[in-house]
Amino acid sequence: MSTKDRLIEGLQQKSVQVAVLGMGYVGLPLAVVFAEAGFKVIGVDPDSRKIEALNKGVSYIQDVPTEKVAKLVKSGHLKATMDFSTLKDVAAVSICVPTPLRKTGDPDMSYILSATEQLAKYMHPGMVVVLESTTYPGTTREILLPMLGDEKGLKVGEDWFLAFSPERVDPGREDWTTINTPKVMGGITPACSEVATAWYAGAIQTVHTVSSAEAAEMAKLLENTFRMINIGMVNELAIMCERLGVDVWEVIDAAASKPFGFMKFTPGPGLGGHCIPIDPLYLSWKMKALNYNARFIDLASEINTNMPRYVVGRVLDALNDRSRALKGSNVLVLGAAYKPDIDDIRESPALDVIGLLQQKGAQVQYHDPYISHLKTHDDQEMDSVTDLMKAVREADVVVIVTSHKGYDYPAILEAAKFVFDSRNALGKLGKDNPKVVRL
Ligand SMILES: NC(=O)c1ccc[n+]([C@@H]2O[C@H](COP(=O)([O-])OP(=O)(O)OC[C@H]3O[C@@H](n4cnc5c(N)ncnc54)[C@H](O)[C@@H]3O)[C@@H](O)[C@H]2O)c1
Repeated sequence: MSTKDRLIEGLQQKSVQVAVLGMGYVGLPLAVVFAEAGFKVIGVDPDSRKIEALNKGVSYIQDVPTEKVAKLVKSGHLKATMDFSTLKDVAAVSICVPTPLRKTGDPDMSYILSATEQLAKYMHPGMVVVLESTTYPGTTREILLPMLGDEKGLKVGEDWFLAFSPERVDPGREDWTTINTPKVMGGITPACSEVATAWYAGAIQTVHTVSSAEAAEMAKLLENTFRMINIGMVNELAIMCERLGVDVWEVIDAAASKPFGFMKFTPGPGLGGHCIPIDPLYLSWKMKALNYNARFIDLASEINTNMPRYVVGRVLDALNDRSRALKGSNVLVLGAAYKPDIDDIRESPALDVIGLLQQKGAQVQYHDPYISHLKTHDDQEMDSVTDLMKAVREADVVVIVTSHKGYDYPAILEAAKFVFDSRNALGKLGKDNPKVVRL
């Protein structure tokens, strides 16, 4: 029996150990899905707090219930460690480490490099490795292949197997989760695709196999670039509508009544989260290295990046119309998470809006039921106000940045002196209401 066939058999029978490197928003749900499918899973992460919590059966990710983790830890299907040497007994490894940007806007590959370096020490024949972290096309072949295979004298597609499979998790979403969202899989060789697909198909409902790792890397960037550009387009539409004196929300709803050929995107105070503002820049960075300028990405990025400044400018104008200066005004920012009903503040436009309001001399407070504490861009610590309605009554303006569903918007509107609604959270209540200005 070949190494490939033996590995596929072990994966199909779930008799081999699997590991997930990086137990964050992506890695923990994936580890849980593998464990629930019957694999023995080891989560490896250098963060001791995460490891301690998991081994106690406690989840720290909103979408993963603690009861689930506790059950899997108790049954021995899931364990966590900071010790990378456990990888010597593992046959399948999925890498889910962060891929942020550096301050300069270039890809920060340090987490992929350090995880790969650690894994390289324990590589052995009969392993399959899948990279899940979003990255530029070429990463799997240019970085992982030499470090894990060529430099160790292991022949890819024969002794070991390597593929890329982009994560598509949408935090807070309940209908499409890790288990039922189709997974794209692209191997370095056809044998790599076959082994990696056999592994994932044992836990995930649909695996869509493509012909190369690069096609899988690019598919992820297409998905996120598509969103980023459409959001940029609709943000510019909001700016144009304001100049024209047309209600952008009414225009979007009208266009969305077309049953085909249109997909609804809505404007807002800027992009947030770990994916949409960042991933397309991995592609444009790579293209620059090939002397090509990714113009759509650059343009959308410029418009989206400017949205917090645009929103603060509109708040300033609206206060001016009410004979007030922003300087010295009490501003309550409602919602700090990057999108509704989640506890994730990474890259949230709320941080930009708060910073810009403070620069203009406003006294800023915020409220978010999911984010009790935050650090501003200039490292200032802030706590969410505890008495929401008191803060609403005392604010000169309430700026809605994140439209959490749990807010009692009619009560907030009733109590507020004036609301700037950057998300159309108030819907019909906000239209033609003298107390409300909408984006
Ligand atoms: N969060 C999302 O919604 C989402 C969606 C799709 C894709 N992604 C992509 O998935 C990847 C992971 O994102 P995330 O949101 O899970 O990040 P995260 O920060 O929540 O988790 C990453 C984990 O990796 C750990 N880590 C760091 N260095 C490590 C190493 N050398 N070895 C092992 N673990 C290490 C960290 O301690 C952390 O726990 C990123 O590339 C991201 O772009 C994220």
